[in-house]
Amino acid sequence: MATISFNPQLCTRCGICTQICPVGLILPDGEDGMPFMPDAMDSVCIKCGACESFCPEGAISPMFSTTHSLVSASITQDMSSDKLGSYMRMRRSIRNYKDEPVDKKTIENILDIVRYAPSGINNQPVHWLMIHDHDEVRKITSLVIDWMRELSASDQEHPMKPVMLSMISAYDMGADPICRGAPHLAIAYAPDDEMSYTDCIIALSWFELAVPAYGLGACWAGFLKVAASSYQPLIDELGLPEGHVMQHAMMFGYPEYRIHNIPGRKPASIIWK
Ligand SMILES: Cc1cc2nc3c(=O)[nH]c(=O)nc-3n(C[C@H](O)[C@H](O)[C@H](O)COP(=O)(O)O)c2cc1C
Repeated sequence: MATISFNPQLCTRCGICTQICPVGLILPDGEDGMPFMPDAMDSVCIKCGACESFCPEGAISPMFSTTHSLVSASITQDMSSDKLGSYMRMRRSIRNYKDEPVDKKTIENILDIVRYAPSGINNQPVHWLMIHDHDEVRKITSLVIDWMRELSASDQEHPMKPVMLSMISAYDMGADPICRGAPHLAIAYAPDDEMSYTDCIIALSWFELAVPAYGLGACWAGFLKVAASSYQPLIDELGLPEGHVMQHAMMFGYPEYRIHNIPGRKPASIIWK
């Protein structure tokens, strides 16, 4: 069966689809001047939906199973660059959270945006382990601390070793230096390869950027990520499906404090050629 279908009643033969296809699979000279994709190319199509997305007449439909988002009828790009720039610059790592859970529907709505993040050859390899249970987040923190205790007591070299002792003592005094008391954790997992890793990082970056629009805040969980790459009790606790690994994670929830200012950063470092 063809991967995409062209509606001859709607198609104006404008040729945009032939130029848009990233793999160059749509040819312009089919029957009656209709664009078409040769059957032999079906397996090469990356199912990115660029043809469907850019067709001005809505004449192209995917024939593969896909899940569209419900978005408002007219897709407008009415956000000014100033507004978007302020929104993006206001993103901050959030390390203090209210003791208030985020409902699952809100999290699903955020992930419905995040699933549109780009991925290499449109592989979409990102899966989510959402630790919604606050007690489970605490358990994960305690396992990361166990990992730090073992590593600190060993002769093994580790770049994070210098900060581990202070984190362990903060934990022993009742703080959560790993997940920062956040109610939830978003863990992006995928097969253990470099392309999937990159795609998970992109997806989590989208997640972090999207959450303030829902009144939420997030922070990368770097220590958790490192511990989860080697500490077996933590790997067992996560219980990810066979062949998959945690690629990275973020804590998130309702921020305790408001952001009032945007801090300074280095100027963009650019080479022009
Ligand atoms: C890969 C990565 C891992 C991080 N891990 C942690 C972490 O374990 N704990 C933490 O409090 N912040 C963590 N951060 C947040 C950084 O400290 C933060 O992004 C940086 O200080 C800049 O602050 P901003 O995010 O508010 O702009 C991490 C950030 C990144 C990109």
